[in-house]
This record gives sequence, C-alpha cells and structure tokens, in this order.
Amino acid sequence: MSTHDLVGLAERLLVPVYGRTPVGFVRGRGAWLEDADGNQVLDFFSSILCTNLGHCHPTVTAAIRRQAETLVHVSNLHYSEPQLRLAELLVANSFADRVFLCNSGAEANEAAIKLARRYGHASGGRYEILSMLGSFHGRTMATIAATGQEKVRRGFEPMLPGFRWVAFGDALAAEEALRPETVAILVEPVQGEGGVVVPPPGYLAELRQICDRNDLLLILDEVQTGCGRTGTLFAHEQMNVTPDVMTLAKSLGNGLPVGAMCASERVASALDTGAHGSTFGGNCVTNAAAVATLEVLLAPETLPRARVAATRLRAGLEALARRHESQIETVRGLGLLLGLVLRDGARAQAVAARALEAGLLLNLTAERVLRIAPPLIIGDEDLERGLGILEGALSS
Ligand SMILES: Cc1ncc(COP(=O)(O)O)c(C=O)c1O
Repeated sequence: MSTHDLVGLAERLLVPVYGRTPVGFVRGRGAWLEDADGNQVLDFFSSILCTNLGHCHPTVTAAIRRQAETLVHVSNLHYSEPQLRLAELLVANSFADRVFLCNSGAEANEAAIKLARRYGHASGGRYEILSMLGSFHGRTMATIAATGQEKVRRGFEPMLPGFRWVAFGDALAAEEALRPETVAILVEPVQGEGGVVVPPPGYLAELRQICDRNDLLLILDEVQTGCGRTGTLFAHEQMNVTPDVMTLAKSLGNGLPVGAMCASERVASALDTGAHGSTFGGNCVTNAAAVATLEVLLAPETLPRARVAATRLRAGLEALARRHESQIETVRGLGLLLGLVLRDGARAQAVAARALEAGLLLNLTAERVLRIAPPLIIGDEDLERGLGILEGALSS
C-alpha cells in the first residue's frame, strides 16, 4: 500500500484522534525507516521515544522470535519466566523492590495512582496527588486528571477528584500547596510532551525532602525519560534522588507494549492480592523483548556511547542555534532527549515539514519545540547527516 492508500483508509476507518503527518512506514533498521513510497528517513524521534535501541534491534528481535515460538501468553493466575526475569532486572538495577507489569505508560501511572490512594487510605484517609503544570501522564481518566494540561481534559469533565497541579520546577510552590489530604507528588524528571523542560538543579531532591517531612510518596514518571534516554538508565540517577515509585513504558520493550510500576518494599504492599491487575501485563513476548532491551541497555558500551552521542548532538544543535539565532530561542534537554525551542510555532512546523521532505523525522511538541530524540545507538555519521538536514530546513 502506498502512503496515499494508507491515508485514505485511515480517514475512512479510524477514530480520528491523532493529528497525523501523511507518511506511512513499512520497515525500519537501526536509526532508519523506509516509508511506504520507498523513501529512506532518518528517525530522530525513535517512534515517539519507544525504540531507544533503534528499529528491529537484532538482540530484541531474536528474543521476540524465540519467545513467540515457545509461549506467547499465560495468565497472571499462573507463573511465567519472562516476566520474572524482567522484574529481576528492574529490581537489580533500580531502587525498587517490587514491580507491577502492564502495557503502557498510562497503565503504569494508573497503578501508581491506585497504589498512592491505598497507601493514603491506610495512613489517615489521604488521597490527593499533586502533579505539575505542563506535565503529561497519559490519556485514561485518572491520568488526564493528573496531567497538568487543560487541552487533554477538555470535554471529559467531570474529572476524577483528588488531583491538583503546581508549577514545575518550583519546590516551594509544591510545599505551600500541601493539604492534610495530600498523599503523593507525581512528577516527570524532565517534562517531555510539555516541551522538553529540565527543572532547576536540586528540584527533585527538594521534592524528596518535602515528601519525607510529610509522609508523602514521591512518584517519578520516567515513561519518557527512562531506559537510557537521558544518558543513565533512569533520569533520576543524575538528580541525586530516590523515589518511592517509578513508572516506565515507551522504550522498555524497544517498540513492544510494556509498562512497569516499580516500588520500594515499604510502599508496594499497599496493593495487596485482588487490588489491581491487567490481563496482558507481564505477557511472555513483550516481556522477553523488555528483558533483551534491558540487557542491551546494561551492556557496558551502550550508555557511555549514548552519552557521547548526546554531547555531540547537543553541540551541533547549539551551533545551529547560534547560526540561526533569529529563529531559535534555545536548546534544552538531557542526554538524547533534546528540544530545539523555536521563537515561532508556525516556523517550527514548517521546519519539521521541510526536514521530513529531506529525509529527517523530528517531532513538534508544546507548539514550538522540535523534540529531537534519535536512538541511543545512532552513529556519528547519521548524527551529522541529521544536523545537516536540519540546517537545510532552517535555512530554506
Ligand atoms: C511522561 C509520560 N507519561 C505517560 C505517558 C503515557 O504513555 P502511554 O501513551 O504509553 O500510555 C507518556 C506518553 O507520552 C509520557 O510521555
């Protein structure tokens, strides 16, 4: 099917919830995609940050194939090895003692929200979760209530009660907003959908102290920042903070749907038998993919190489920003989660469109932020090629 055919079918058959760019993809390898018309496209978006190891990573693909030939699914009323190997890896490589496995970021955050409510009910009947303006936590009813962006909630009122938002990056504002019913603070270490916004140094550590003083849970949404994206396995490792709960999804299965809510022993028991569940959570194939993904991420060369690529890309973007100062306000981000903030939204849209025409896929978020997130395995040559295309798009 050509891109034209795909667009026609989508318009006729799908619930029109996505604003899509008219390009369909048929195959991918590493940092490259091929579109339905045979064009090669360099992927600086990692399929909405879900393929941190690049497309069809051979180790992950081999694990999927092996597992698909062995056992695809069993219920959570029984046991299966891939989910326990995944849990073991997550526990061994994070603060967490226990893991709840699911299929998406929204589902991981739902689990965290339910855990916080159970924890709060058991400690003085508390239920309220403070989250941040500009945040994004998913599209289910609880996660849109947590999300600090009016546009995702519009038309779905009444909202689930028990959420309030405060300014991102302002720990004092969070402390002043606390009420007797507050039980948790939910925050992204770097706001992704909100425009690649990095908080001031020390912010998460201050939130940790506020949580400790007030017996609140610190829940970090690392759905976008996790799995090596910011240069460490989890972004909070660079921020001198240990959360009570962390949520993961997106790149955990390098393209297969896997989510996880990871919690410390102290709080995990708030969710006891029967309190929560997910039919496909812990699925054999998706979890085998996640095990392989984590093994590659943890290999000694992967994250150091991602950090080198990040330094190089950031330097390239900063040079672009200097050369195109009239168009670019700033470069921001952490690791390979970078944002090129343009001064004007229409111009940002035009630059993204021109880049795609020239074979570079980028994403526009928060109206005028070009989100730049190539796979962690990207080579220097492809980095330079992408920067060259971007330069061309900014110049035209
Ligand atoms: C920080 C964050 N949390 C949660 C989500 C929701 O994840 P999902 O779309 O897998 O439900 C996203 C998706 O963009 C995200 O960036």
